[in-house]
Amino acid sequence: MTDRTLEEKASLTSGSGTWHTTAAAGVPALTLADGPHGLRVQRRSGDALGLHDSVPATCFPPAVALGSSWNPRLAREVGAALAREAAALGVNVLLGPGVNIKRSPLCGRNFEYFSEDPHLTGVMGAAMVTGIQSLGVGASLKHFAVNNQETDRMRVSAEVDERTLREIYLPAFEHIVREARPYTVMCSYNRVNGVYASQHRWLLTEVLRAEWGFDGLVVSDWGAVNDRVAALAAGLDLEMPPTGTDEQITEAVRAGRLEEKILDQAVTRLIQLVRRTEGRARFDGWDAEAHHELAREAARQSAVLLKNDGGVLPLRPGRRVCVLGELARTPRYQGGGSSHVTPTRLENAWQALGEPPFAAGYRLDGGPGAGLREEAVALAAGSEVALVFLGLPEHAESEGFDRTTIDLPADQVSLLRAVADVCEEVVVVLSNGGVVSVAEWRDSATAILEGWLLGQAGGAAIADLLTGVCGPSGRLTETIPLRLADVPSHLHFPGSDGVVVYGEGRYVGYRHYDTLDVEVAYPFGHGLTYSRFDYSDLQAALDGVEVTVTNAGDRFAQEVVQLYLAFDGDRPRHELRGFAKVSLEPGESERVRFALTERDLARWSVRRHGWQVDPGTFTVEVGASSRDIRLRAELTTPGDGYVGTLSRMSTLGEWLAHPRGGEVLRAALKPGAAPADPALMRLALGVPLAKFATFGVGLSTEVVDALVAALAQDSGTDAAPAPDTGAVTATP
Ligand code: BGC
Repeated sequence: MTDRTLEEKASLTSGSGTWHTTAAAGVPALTLADGPHGLRVQRRSGDALGLHDSVPATCFPPAVALGSSWNPRLAREVGAALAREAAALGVNVLLGPGVNIKRSPLCGRNFEYFSEDPHLTGVMGAAMVTGIQSLGVGASLKHFAVNNQETDRMRVSAEVDERTLREIYLPAFEHIVREARPYTVMCSYNRVNGVYASQHRWLLTEVLRAEWGFDGLVVSDWGAVNDRVAALAAGLDLEMPPTGTDEQITEAVRAGRLEEKILDQAVTRLIQLVRRTEGRARFDGWDAEAHHELAREAARQSAVLLKNDGGVLPLRPGRRVCVLGELARTPRYQGGGSSHVTPTRLENAWQALGEPPFAAGYRLDGGPGAGLREEAVALAAGSEVALVFLGLPEHAESEGFDRTTIDLPADQVSLLRAVADVCEEVVVVLSNGGVVSVAEWRDSATAILEGWLLGQAGGAAIADLLTGVCGPSGRLTETIPLRLADVPSHLHFPGSDGVVVYGEGRYVGYRHYDTLDVEVAYPFGHGLTYSRFDYSDLQAALDGVEVTVTNAGDRFAQEVVQLYLAFDGDRPRHELRGFAKVSLEPGESERVRFALTERDLARWSVRRHGWQVDPGTFTVEVGASSRDIRLRAELTTPGDGYVGTLSRMSTLGEWLAHPRGGEVLRAALKPGAAPADPALMRLALGVPLAKFATFGVGLSTEVVDALVAALAQDSGTDAAPAPDTGAVTATP
């Protein structure tokens, strides 16, 4: 580092413009570009809001859809295709994937995220990162961390407890960092428990690097830095875009307020990123047709068939079909904001279906469409099947703001009702980035295909699915609630006065609905196919689970086999720990295997500040959704052997349950000291030992101190009693 001046080094820790790092002292500039489902490379004006043009690139299905494929192999392929386009466009680092948890269906950016579940998010995100980096292009895992809303996103403090952080909001990042080793991580705009993510040392250094072994570069979200020096000191290596504050760094180093070695470290990480991406594959261009086909395959696997009464889908040939709804002709296929892509081409479902009779039915801008509805209803009246395309218009959801409702536009719902009155079979095809409620209109639909936002080839994919060229195989990655008020975060979202309290804690999505048995419209993991599957021969052991899945229908189809673990105690009803997408011909079976690790059984222990496997029995569940469990087995774990140290403030119950503590205590107690009355005994078990002296019953202070000293001697620690702040205070 000695051959670079302080000024040069400081300049390397911020960009030179919207999309480039600074070239200085022999370090070349890097090009960064959005985004998660397609390249947004801007040749002229650069902006982080998706306002200006970008060069055409393939618009793959956004994460809301790709996640619904539950197919990591597909995510890897999409990642590799994105990297090829990135490399061809001269991009070193692609700003994605986004792996924030869907805490509320209202979050305006949910279309960019995978799921309400951290395991699914982690696996899909890791696959994408692996795909992107397979060609030497860097990924940027974002937005780290606890960025689950757009309201006040640049300032809001997400107030979240330690266990919820560890079990819900951090695990996807952790899994991806450990398994896929992204070259960069992007910090989020928001504050986490009062501290800006961009200057959160615990997050950016202690957890990310020291615990998880991240060895790449931390970049700010665009404009997320509020204090250059504090950010650098916390572990943020690169500020994007530049704010012209490099002098603050040099001054802080000169004044001794910032150690120069921290600056050196950031520069080293930038140089490492240059080296890592400099060797990326070289391409002059890409096969636009092949990428469009991949986008189409991804879209086919991403749509979720929610309902299919009487097997109306796939459409039998020769039926008199009409297509209704502007969205069939003017598709919504991606979301607004920084991830907005200029597609290489765009298909709409109406054309892909061969342009059957069509009526727009409504206007996307919500304006009065004189006669539109009547025209559509008349068309439906003369048809056997009405394909009704409904969804959220562009202005209803985007990066930068949250929704306030999950309802479909009222004019669309009333169109549907009117169509259902005159047409026997009504198939609804939905286009929406965030969940929409279906409860109040689903009885008017014979079938519902949730198409999310399917990317540029979505129209063709929808036609393929409706006509049975292929079968639907997407599954819900988020619960569809009956009502917005049922959503666990509802009372807290999006907060006020710059604070949002994560009051529902770990009970996000199905963890809430399934634990409290709340009725939902469609559960997490749900999705129909054109076939059916049998599950048999479940074998469960602590290191893995096996089950046989058979296609019992008469068509080739894909099933998503889901593994949940259910523990007693202070835990959600069950949690997803594995999944596998299998493709089977009629009558064909496959033995599906899930590996289990200790971590899969663990919960975060606040007392221990670590993962803990409690001894006990738990249930292994295998099924087709969180509410369609087909097979169960019980397993018993001895736990991880953790034995805490006891203190004077440990309860009688904790002393008795402790292997050595129980022995020592029993020896000290007079025979017959235990109360005969069971209620009294229960009461006594919850009393800290030290309090027995206070109450004047049983143990004196001297005896309690002697017990603590005896235990301390056993473990070779100082005989001084442990601090009286908690019941069990030691680490393993
Ligand atoms: C978004 C990021 C994006 C960046 C650059 C920000 O507004 O939050 O996801 O990568 O802009 O466009």
